[in-house]
Amino acid sequence: MPSLASSLSDSVTAAAAPLGLVDFAPQVRRSEHADFQADGMLAAARTLRRRPRDVAAEVVAALPAGNLVAAARVAGPGFVNLELTDRALLAQLADRLGDPRLGVGTAEADVTTVIDYSQPNIAKEMHVGHLRSTIIGDSLVRILEHLGGTVVRRNHIGDWGTQFGMLIQYRFEHPEPPATTGTATMRRLAALYRQARAAFDSDPAFAERARRRVVALQGGDPATLSAWRDIVAESTRYFTDVYDRLGVRLTGADAVGESAYNAALPDVAAELAQRGVAAVSDGALCVFFDDVRGPDGTPTPLIVRKRDGGFGYAATDLAALRQRVGDLHADRLLYVVDARQALHFRMVFDTARRAGWLPPTVPAVHVAFGTVLGPDGRPFKTRAGDTVRLVDLLTEAVDRARDVVAAKNPDLAGAALDQRARQVGIGAVKYADLATGRTRDYTYDPDRMLALAGNTGVYLQYAHARIRSILAKATGVEPVVDAEVALEPAERALILDLDAFADTLTEVVAGFEPHRLCGYLYRLAQTFTTFYERCPVLRADEPIRGNRLALCRLTGDTLRTGLELLGIEAPDQL
Ligand code: ARG
Repeated sequence: MPSLASSLSDSVTAAAAPLGLVDFAPQVRRSEHADFQADGMLAAARTLRRRPRDVAAEVVAALPAGNLVAAARVAGPGFVNLELTDRALLAQLADRLGDPRLGVGTAEADVTTVIDYSQPNIAKEMHVGHLRSTIIGDSLVRILEHLGGTVVRRNHIGDWGTQFGMLIQYRFEHPEPPATTGTATMRRLAALYRQARAAFDSDPAFAERARRRVVALQGGDPATLSAWRDIVAESTRYFTDVYDRLGVRLTGADAVGESAYNAALPDVAAELAQRGVAAVSDGALCVFFDDVRGPDGTPTPLIVRKRDGGFGYAATDLAALRQRVGDLHADRLLYVVDARQALHFRMVFDTARRAGWLPPTVPAVHVAFGTVLGPDGRPFKTRAGDTVRLVDLLTEAVDRARDVVAAKNPDLAGAALDQRARQVGIGAVKYADLATGRTRDYTYDPDRMLALAGNTGVYLQYAHARIRSILAKATGVEPVVDAEVALEPAERALILDLDAFADTLTEVVAGFEPHRLCGYLYRLAQTFTTFYERCPVLRADEPIRGNRLALCRLTGDTLRTGLELLGIEAPDQL
């Protein structure tokens, strides 16, 4: 069953047919003055060279009175205000209640999306930047899959580059037995990185050996390659550990690092040169753009192959893109990466279009996100000025969540408390990140994100759990909808909010903006609270009680599904 908003939009379109407009598309949205408001009459009047209110009046007169529309009025300069019948609202409620998909269709059924997200770097700690990419990417994956889409995850791990020369060389010179746990492994790798870097910077002889090691690695020397593989495998184990803690659907199989494209790089360069997209400039193979210039006006190129013959970040991304469209048959490419890389992606996409690797039918989107800020309003750093380790952040959030949960449930202890603390703490971190428009910066504030009131994950988890407990008290009573009952305003408002779930997901996908889902769930929880304050549920008589229980059930299911699509658990009790 379509949403009420889209049924209304169809009715208004039909009512406007006699006006003889070719592509009349009314915008139907929720309104403060009525259930809905239809816009579009103003534009129609302009085309028809008529007065907007007259056009609106004609539409109103043509709207069939009946099952759906209870009243229609011309408002303002030429809007149409629409009230729906209680019966239509209750029929919609009954339909949603009987549909496990809650009215959500499968708009993505024939679409293959390749999404590039998380992308940590080998032998370096994951930091807050990787947190954003991982969480936003995971939520988009869940939503696209829920809409029936095929999603190929690509964790474009930084697993190649000159730094491996120094890492491998240092490890050869200072062998150590492998660590056992994920965290110990990462501590060991991070130390390796620091020590190797220090040696590289202070000891010219070591730096020289490290450079020769890079050549050996690129030349495929077996011992060097095997040491490289060990380091990559150790890091990947650690990343998987972090993903498990986060409850993110990324596995080792999704990790296709930069090195995976090595073999394709010479061919990428050759094809670009042969098609005249790239040209040699100053010894490097470059792509130029009319609109990309430095401050002094000289063009800034995308460097495909460096002067020394080496390939870098751009070449790898081009090879990956060619493969994602050519071999994986992507209909859409998403890159969940820091907003600071906007220019890089603009140049990569433009190059790929010119090369014919990215057909006009395949959109490539840089799903950019802003910076996580510390309490001082500057990019989040530790007091010592280091980047904040992602694991420390998660540990802190779960610890604080344990206090919050324990204060509310003094009886909870042991493993049950730990589990609850993890659900709330991780949920809080994810929600705080997802709830902000992704291109904006936000301040990381553990107190605020664990607040029980306000737009937080915990607030929504509590709202959901409270509904489950109401339902639990009504055991044995199946919520049945009786469509002949008159509705209270708070009930109407709740039905209208519930009905917007599917359309909200459509909006999320239109701009790859999970914060729209957060905003929706938050409003829904608030509307439910108002409903629950004004409308007794368990104490009501039948058939009102059945209808109100149905509202509770559908709100609970919508909150849980919505939270799951954000990657946040919704336990029945908190
Ligand atoms: N590994 C990079 C970093 O940590 C991000 C990679 C983004 N993905 C891509 N396809 N370029 O900054």
